[in-house]
This record gives sequence, C-alpha cells and structure tokens, in this order.
Amino acid sequence: MEMKNGYQGDVKAVINASELLTVHATGPKTGDALSDLGIIRGGAVVFQGASIIDVGTTDEMLAVHKPQSIIDAAGQVVMPGFVDPHTHLVHMGSRHEEYECKIAGRSYADLHKVGGIRYTVSMTRAASAEDLYQKALRDLDIMLLHGTTTVEAKSGYGLDRENELKLLHVARRLNETHPVEVISTFLGAHTVPDEFKERKAAYVALVRQMLDEVAPLAEFCDVWCDPLGFSVDDCRQILSDARQHGLKLKLHVEQTAWSGGGELAGEMGAVSADHLDFVSLDAISQMRDKKVVGVILPGVTYHLMEFKKDIPVKEMIDGGMAIALATDYNPGSCRTQSMQAILETACRLYRLTYAQAINAATLNAAYALDRGDSIGSLAPGKRADMVIVDCSEHGVIINNFGINHVRTVIKDGEVVVLDGHLEGSRLRQSRSMAKVQSA
Ligand code: NIG
Ligand code: FE
Repeated sequence: MEMKNGYQGDVKAVINASELLTVHATGPKTGDALSDLGIIRGGAVVFQGASIIDVGTTDEMLAVHKPQSIIDAAGQVVMPGFVDPHTHLVHMGSRHEEYECKIAGRSYADLHKVGGIRYTVSMTRAASAEDLYQKALRDLDIMLLHGTTTVEAKSGYGLDRENELKLLHVARRLNETHPVEVISTFLGAHTVPDEFKERKAAYVALVRQMLDEVAPLAEFCDVWCDPLGFSVDDCRQILSDARQHGLKLKLHVEQTAWSGGGELAGEMGAVSADHLDFVSLDAISQMRDKKVVGVILPGVTYHLMEFKKDIPVKEMIDGGMAIALATDYNPGSCRTQSMQAILETACRLYRLTYAQAINAATLNAAYALDRGDSIGSLAPGKRADMVIVDCSEHGVIINNFGINHVRTVIKDGEVVVLDGHLEGSRLRQSRSMAKVQSA
C-alpha cells in the first residue's frame, strides 16, 4: 500500500536506546565535529521499508508515530551500521604462516619477493568462482555479525583479464545475494604478476586495456602506489583512463614508504587515499582542499609490526581533512573482518577518542565510498542500517576489546542479525563450506 508520506510497508521503531548515536552531519566530519556523535539519550529511530522517517527521544517519537512493530533497546547503544570502505574480500587461501614469519622478524617487502600477494594470486586463480563466492559469503556473514552493513570489495588477486573479471562477478553476486551491500573496486594494479616480471610497463598497458570490460562491473578503480607496487606515473595513467571509463578513484598510498601517492590523490581529486603511513604534510593540505577522504588502516600498521605508527592523524583532523577507518581485510596485511577490532586499534595507535573513531567508521567511511548522503548516520531519509550494541555507553564498545558487542543488526529496515545470530530470511544461498579449502 502506498503511504501518504511516500514510504511503503509497516512503520517500525527501535526505542529506548540508552544512547542513540545519530552521528549525523551533512558532510564528512573534520576538526571538532569529529568529536560529536549526536547522542540522544533514551533515543528512538522510526523507519518504514528501507528508510528512516524520524529520529528523536522515545517519548517524542511515540507521540507522533504509531509503529506496528517495536524493538526495545533498553540499556543498549543504537548506532549506524559500520561502513567498511577498504577490503580485499574476494580471495582464496590463508597466509597465517607468513604472519608467523613476520613475528620472527621478516619484513613485508621480503615476503613480497617470495610470496605475499603473489601467493594469494596463485590460490585465487586456481579457485572456481563458486568456491570464491562461498568463502566470501562466510566472511560477509562474520562482518554482518560484527555490525558491518556496507563493505567495499576490491579485485586484485586475479591480475589477468579472466581472473579479474571472475572476482568482479563474484563481488556482484555477493551484493545480489547477501544483506551486506558490496561495493566493487577494480584493483588490477595491485602488483605485477609473475608472468610480467621485468615487464611492468606491459602489465600497466594490460590493466589499462582491461578497463573496457571491467568498468561495467565496478564503481571505483584503485592502484597500489608504492615503491613495492606502481609508480606515480603508472598510477596517473591508469587512473586517468579509469576516470574516462566512468570509474571513481581510490589509491593505496604511502604504505611502505613515501612515493608521492598522497600528492597524486590530491591532484586527481580521488574519493579516497588509503594507508597514509608515510604521507607528507603537503599532501594532507592538497587532499583536504580536494575533499579526498583519508582512509586509515590501523589493523595493517599493527599487524605488519614494521611501519611507523606516528601517522600524522592529528594533523589531518586539525587541518580539516576527513579521516575514515577500514579493516583492509585481506590474507596478508590485516586479517580481521571486525570493525570493532579496528576501532580499538585506532584508538590505541593514534590516540583517537571514542567519538572520533566511531564517526570515522560510520559517516566518514560512507563518504570514503561516496555514499555519505544515504548511509553512515541515522537521520530522516537515510537507509535504515543500524546496530544495537550490548553496552549502555558507547565507550565500552572500544574499551572492552576483543569481543563482539553487536546483538542486533538492521539492514535496509530488516532485522538480519537477532540476538547475535544470523536471521535466515534474507540469506538466500546455502552456507556449505565443504568444498572450500581455506583455513
Ligand atoms: O592493502 N599492499 C597492498 N595491498 C594490501 C595487502 C594485500 C596482501 O598482502 O595480500 C593492503 O595492505
Ligand atoms: Fe588494501
């Protein structure tokens, strides 16, 4: 039935939140705004279909609206679903042995020469689309159970036409069949595959040629601009072509050393620049001026145990550059699906406040995916993506680390996790992992 307000379906509400973190703002948060969570004590969210129609105190909301179904969140925090704007979701295999080598002192660069990304490429090329899909479904389930409602997924472990297309098709199928929204990025320039060793220019040419076919399957194009990856000139060429093909731009920059990728992100007006461990202060100003969101990946800095930890995050925040947080979920540099783990790591490594970390993992993360207008905060007109957390104050989510605090997840207005368990109605595929050879 068409409702007079234009929304369809039952009116539903989440009420009595001990803290409702609306997080809302009309742009990415910087400076002092990053410390404001827009908290409403005793808050309620009213939604219809996939959209939020009102937000306020429970008394205000129940005086105006007559919801047909109500979730009572008494004693719990209600907040936007986490947005994870940087992952390498679709891949095969584990590199847990490599992590033990890192613990013993081997560097990421050293491991990159003998295996690293290339090892995952060989496993991923050998895997069928079905097995990749089943493994990624399980990872998405874990993400959803931990409160992530939107995730970006990069290709980049195929590194040839056939296999990059395979990964992008898997990501599309995941988006069509799993409650988590999956946003696709083409990362053909992730590393130079073995068959192009010593012929990097020929591989860059191939990546550019692939754009015709991959562009319809992706929203973003990304590159690894790094001394271990691709030069600034290589990246500029690939990203310029990608833009001509209608793709929006992202870059991995300054991960293992400075190479000018931050400056390139500013020059090209990318949507985001990610990693930033060795970013220059000049690049921070350039990116701020071009509204590039800086995606910080504390799980990588923490997990690799070798890159510097004094990333100028404070300079970014105070200088007016928007920062976001992401897992970078991948088998090599950071293997966690949990944004809650990332919040804790970010606060510990960069001394972010609880509020700064939560804003960076929700609204600013949505802006890092060019989705700030529709997700990442709780406000009328936005999508009803929210989590109910079993803590009465938001700081406990971060301070009480290493556990999953999320009890209920609502995605597009539907309860998809209830009491810490997946609800089956929207999970249309079987969860057989029997054939998947992943650890
Ligand atoms: O974002 N360094 C580039 N890409 C990934 C790591 C991928 C891997 O080690 O498999 C990153 O950290
Ligand atoms: Fe990455």
